[in-house]
Amino acid sequence: MSDLETQLQALQAEATAAIAAVTDLDALEQERIAVLGKKGKLSQILRGMGKLSAEERPRIGALANEIKEDIQARLEQTKIKLETAAIAAQLAQETLDVTMPGVSRPIGRVHPLNSIIDRVIEIFTGLGYSVAEGYEMESDYYNFEALNTPPDHPARDMQDTFYLPDGNLLRTHTSSVQIRHMENHEPPLRIIAPGRVYRRDTVDATHSAVFHQIEILAIDKNLTFTDLKGTLKEFVRQMFGEELPMLFRASYFPFTEPSAEVDVQWEGRWLEVLGCGMVDPNVLKAVGYDPEEYTGFAAGLGVERFAMVLHHIDDIRRLYASDLRFLSQF
Ligand code: DAH
Repeated sequence: MSDLETQLQALQAEATAAIAAVTDLDALEQERIAVLGKKGKLSQILRGMGKLSAEERPRIGALANEIKEDIQARLEQTKIKLETAAIAAQLAQETLDVTMPGVSRPIGRVHPLNSIIDRVIEIFTGLGYSVAEGYEMESDYYNFEALNTPPDHPARDMQDTFYLPDGNLLRTHTSSVQIRHMENHEPPLRIIAPGRVYRRDTVDATHSAVFHQIEILAIDKNLTFTDLKGTLKEFVRQMFGEELPMLFRASYFPFTEPSAEVDVQWEGRWLEVLGCGMVDPNVLKAVGYDPEEYTGFAAGLGVERFAMVLHHIDDIRRLYASDLRFLSQF
């Protein structure tokens, strides 16, 4: 056996063992370069070919080719094996368990007070009203005086007011928005004004120092008490989802004449739901409207009251406690 033949067979044995021992693709490529690369072991051995005799050369050449092909085949097989294993490993790591229960994200809900306000706005915008806003801090003028409630008026006893050190106050009702809006707009107008109001009430199951009202105001030529009744009847029908018996009880508010409180018969009980009346001529005069030309009606309702009645809530304080166990029911 020639020397080259021995070297080639040794290379084949060595490469076969090395390839079998390889465990990753990088190492396999290194092995390929070391054995079959341009400066690899096989080329080095074949450099000795020049010294061979003419009859030996083809035989050794054929053997070298055979060995080269054998090593190439092993490299290729091992490569496929390692690639398949790598893909399998990756798949195993990325497997999705489609039977796993989903992660449920809690869905936010509209607070019952806001949903009442939204509903009332929806009903009145459907009747052609637009939403108006005023200020929570008000002057005595907008909260009382322009609403026909002068400083010595007994009606001021009805509302215990938070006065601020500068002489302003926290509005006791949304009726102040009536004045603000009429001062800046010409009749005819129809507005609805939801907002926060403040009273110096001791907090208990039915009282809160801060609560919400919705004010309704319509001014036009020839508006009568019939228009007020028809409007409120339609409002109650939509709000409660059915036509309910309604009672207009004569009442008193400084800013309306005549005035009424409205009761609605619902689930076998009479519920007082709002105050209303025809806008007092003095209020129209305060904003520069001619009471001979224009008339109007107004109404005010308590949002908490509606929320408590419609959702059977027993304590007003639940509406402010931000307790998700309570709020998630709505
Ligand atoms: N402002 C009244 C209150 O806080 C509610 C009210 C009554 C508003 C009659 C009105 C109305 O616009 O006409 O109790």
